[in-house]
Amino acid sequence: MQKIIIDTDPGQDDAVAILLALAAPEIKVLGITAVAGNVPLALTEKNARIICELAGRPDIKVFAGAARPMKRELVTAEYVHGKTGLNGPELWEPKMPLQPQHAVDFIIETLRSTDDVILCVLGPLTNIAMALTKAPDIAVRIKQIVLMGGGCFEGGNTTPAAEFNIYVDPHAAKIVFAAGIDLVVMPLDVTHKALATRPRVAAFAGMGTKVGRFTAEMLDFFERFDMAKYGSEGGPLHDPNVIAYLLAPEIYTGRDVNIEIETASELTMGMTVVDWWGVTGRTPNARYIRDLDSDAFFDLLVRRFKSLP
Ligand code: RIB
Ligand code: CA
Repeated sequence: MQKIIIDTDPGQDDAVAILLALAAPEIKVLGITAVAGNVPLALTEKNARIICELAGRPDIKVFAGAARPMKRELVTAEYVHGKTGLNGPELWEPKMPLQPQHAVDFIIETLRSTDDVILCVLGPLTNIAMALTKAPDIAVRIKQIVLMGGGCFEGGNTTPAAEFNIYVDPHAAKIVFAAGIDLVVMPLDVTHKALATRPRVAAFAGMGTKVGRFTAEMLDFFERFDMAKYGSEGGPLHDPNVIAYLLAPEIYTGRDVNIEIETASELTMGMTVVDWWGVTGRTPNARYIRDLDSDAFFDLLVRRFKSLP
């Protein structure tokens, strides 16, 4: 049983990642912590609760965290995810409660009291960096952090140099990457190979379930921006790769490298400087995933989603 906390800014791709985790019997979701990112915090926490209700899991504890990055102004991505953050399907006002505790305090309290917790980070790293700053003792308590963020060979998706999650809060990313924690990074180099093509989206619609239909409607909306921008045959499913890595690490390949985060130059702010060829001599601080078996990834998603309502 893998015990995880999902830190997230839903976001259609975050939603698919949360559904995959809730569909996996080998994963125990200790809590979901929302952060401002794709859309403001009031929407990311609400969307996280909508997804839990969609999966028939109103028992999951959802917490609200940081409403803005540590130092910079919040940058959001409604141009990708729509005004609600979950554009595509019809949404509703969730009935399940938002937990009163701040997400950062939940993360600290859980790590201090529970062994072997994996942090699955799907948005800007603000909550994680704030927890590490407020409670440095938790760093050695974290079993692993698997995060979606960064890019190297693919460049950036928000600026030519930076991927969105890192760009939104580069100072938080710098803290996390320097904390000496077992870190697995799912960058654009691999997520741009996980394209939700028409046949793959049709497989969700064809499930005949509420979750299948909802997912297909989310992906139909989510893909339009990336297909227009990259001319790709589908939208890249970024965040579910974090959860899929826990379930099937064998479908991914990567390398232990040194990654530094740019926080000095506005031109390259939030760039993940990935020493893939080991030219700097700097100590490796992350496993950087560069490739995946995309058919195996989507087969996993479809197979697991069949257990959802
Ligand atoms: O750059 C892609 C990442 O930014 C994904 O996590 C997406 O949900 C947004 O948060
Ligand atoms: Ca996200």
